[in-house]
Amino acid sequence: MTEQELRQLLKDMSLEEKVFQMVQLPGQNFDTSAAVTGYADRQDQNDPLLSQAGSTLGIFGAAKLKAIQDTYMEKQPHHIPLLFMLDVIHGYETAFPCPLGLGATFAPKIAETCAQVSAREAAAGGIHVTFSPMADLARDARWGRVMESTGEDPYLNSQMAAAMVRGFQGEDVKEPGQVASCVKHFAAYGAAAAGLDYSNVELSRHTLREYYLGAYGAAVEAGCEMVMTSFNSWNGIPCTGNPWLMKDVLRREMGFDGVLISDWGAVGEMVNHGICEDLEQAAQKAAEAGVDIDMCADAYARHLAQLVRMGKVEERTIDDAVWRILVLKNKLGLFENPYKDADEIKEKECFLCQEHRRLAREAVRKSIVLLKNAGDDTRLLPLNREKKIAFIGPYVEGEDMRSSWVVTGSAEASVSIRQAAKEVLPAQNLLFAKGCTLLDNDTILNLDEFHMDGWEEENARLLKEAAETARQADVVVLCLGEHRRQSGEATSRTQIVLPKIQRKLLHTIAQVNDQVVSVIFSGRPLELREVSQYSRAVLEVWMPGTEGGHGIVDVLTGVYNPSGKLPMSFPYTVGQEPMSYSAYSTGRPKPEGMRGDYTTRYLDAPNEPLYPFGYGLSYTTFSISKPVLSSSSMTADGSITAAVTVKNTGDWEGTETLQLYLRDVTASCIRPVKELKGFCQVTLQPGKEQTVSFTVTEEMLRFHNPKEEYGSEPGLFRLWIGASSDCREYVEFELKPSGQ
Ligand code: NOJ
Repeated sequence: MTEQELRQLLKDMSLEEKVFQMVQLPGQNFDTSAAVTGYADRQDQNDPLLSQAGSTLGIFGAAKLKAIQDTYMEKQPHHIPLLFMLDVIHGYETAFPCPLGLGATFAPKIAETCAQVSAREAAAGGIHVTFSPMADLARDARWGRVMESTGEDPYLNSQMAAAMVRGFQGEDVKEPGQVASCVKHFAAYGAAAAGLDYSNVELSRHTLREYYLGAYGAAVEAGCEMVMTSFNSWNGIPCTGNPWLMKDVLRREMGFDGVLISDWGAVGEMVNHGICEDLEQAAQKAAEAGVDIDMCADAYARHLAQLVRMGKVEERTIDDAVWRILVLKNKLGLFENPYKDADEIKEKECFLCQEHRRLAREAVRKSIVLLKNAGDDTRLLPLNREKKIAFIGPYVEGEDMRSSWVVTGSAEASVSIRQAAKEVLPAQNLLFAKGCTLLDNDTILNLDEFHMDGWEEENARLLKEAAETARQADVVVLCLGEHRRQSGEATSRTQIVLPKIQRKLLHTIAQVNDQVVSVIFSGRPLELREVSQYSRAVLEVWMPGTEGGHGIVDVLTGVYNPSGKLPMSFPYTVGQEPMSYSAYSTGRPKPEGMRGDYTTRYLDAPNEPLYPFGYGLSYTTFSISKPVLSSSSMTADGSITAAVTVKNTGDWEGTETLQLYLRDVTASCIRPVKELKGFCQVTLQPGKEQTVSFTVTEEMLRFHNPKEEYGSEPGLFRLWIGASSDCREYVEFELKPSGQ
């Protein structure tokens, strides 16, 4: 449609018709098997919303969506197509590693390609918009949704969010195989107090800007078509009703001109928050804040038209919102082809096809982080194929390795560790045992509860069998972890440890065989002290998805040399949460290597995490030289080059991720003790070395000062280049005032 035709369409619509475009109905209203939780409130088949609500979510499948679109458009007075949205978080049919795992690749290109393939499959299944990426900064591992983020760092998250937007949308969302990307949850959803999902967020504006807003901004800059508001309140105001956030920051400062949707029911939740008396007031507040689509709260449907008639909401507000919605539908090409890519043949061709599986396997390999591999000549990893290897644990087979945010596809398409091991390791050297159930009998999960009759007897039997198996083996690979429903939405935990029954398995096995490699599945950093203590080697594999088994066995056997790096600190103890390497400086920093009485420290635990952000080992070793600067000072219009020589000092070809960190030593307000400002990956043969350089520009030195102005301040800066955030050796340079 031309812009003129679109304008005319808007003019031709009645107030009600316009408001209906701003309503998102749960998918159950169109199809009872919808993959969403909530209510189907439109029982009356003559309800005009069934043919006029602008969008729906949670339903998928080419044939189904085409049929729904046909029925809908026949009745839609202006034949405006219905928008289909879905949570395609880390894959549609082919599941990739969960976003936290993708963060661990430190490879935005991989995240972009995974998003591209997810878009291709979802588009074939009739989807127009995905609610992804989640750009929320996540620093509290108790919060279950850290799994959906790419971690604790603003720079890494920005790179990843932008890459995913590019992958989903391509050059033009209208093109086949692309979907529109909805970035969420605006804003600061990840800072939920005490990691408790949906709870309130208290952050200074300074901290909000310094740490939290950047990744959303990067997604907006990458051109995301939609943004979703967050459930939480921020400093006393629910974000969904906060005009400063939505209008001043998102629209004016960041320049977002796409469609703003609320999270599920978030408009109505402003009543529970206690800032609106009823749904009508909530509708008014959300509209005033600039929310274009009310996702499933029924507030706009019931009250918005009336609010306009009463003069409480300007019709202009409605027109602006509907205009943006129509523009999006037009950008997607829906007026010409309301099905977009929905196509049963394409579905068959691309779902889980070889190319997609290959990419998924590659992504799993790159996401795995080697946390420990003790010993020099006696390292257990990579596995020695001549040895008898026992794969033990509930994740060896049968458990779904996709996170709770894969709502499409089937678990059966996944490759288990058992299957993958049998493909490549000599059958006579392989042993398998389940060891225990994945969960304790009283674990509460999101949406259902684990309970098994005869649980104790069954676990006693499994444990005995596992101990016997371990006794016969030279090496035990213990596959342990969280259940997929222990991370994701509404999965906050106060104890971030493995289930008791799995810890018992770990203790028992380590007693009969001390050659233990632990493979940990999780959607969040766990407290791994005990695992590390009882294991000679530890791999973190996240929720790896469809090709989990293959990717993990590739790393275990050395077909792929691990290169993943932690996108979140793994705490020494949960009491340190929330935590990040990139904390503000304090007045009493703990002196290194000393007890540090009356300094910033815990009495009962170190300040440091067990495994820091950016950390991850390889089967080879690397040396990194002290950074050399091209100059010891620069002016705002200049730059400095910082170079290191990285050398592969081990026996394997391997990839190292070099990370550039900066610190502003003195400024008009406190600054983080270290901030990631760049990273790059180098692959080197044994004995080879390479010089790697980063260019430091003034832009990288900017921050929000106490007046909320964004800029740099002259003075001293510290610079590190290392293999993790725990790098120590730094050099210093000066930013000179302009004109010097
Ligand atoms: C609620 C979640 O917070 C959000 O991330 C998701 O996209 C919507 N529900 C839709 O499923």
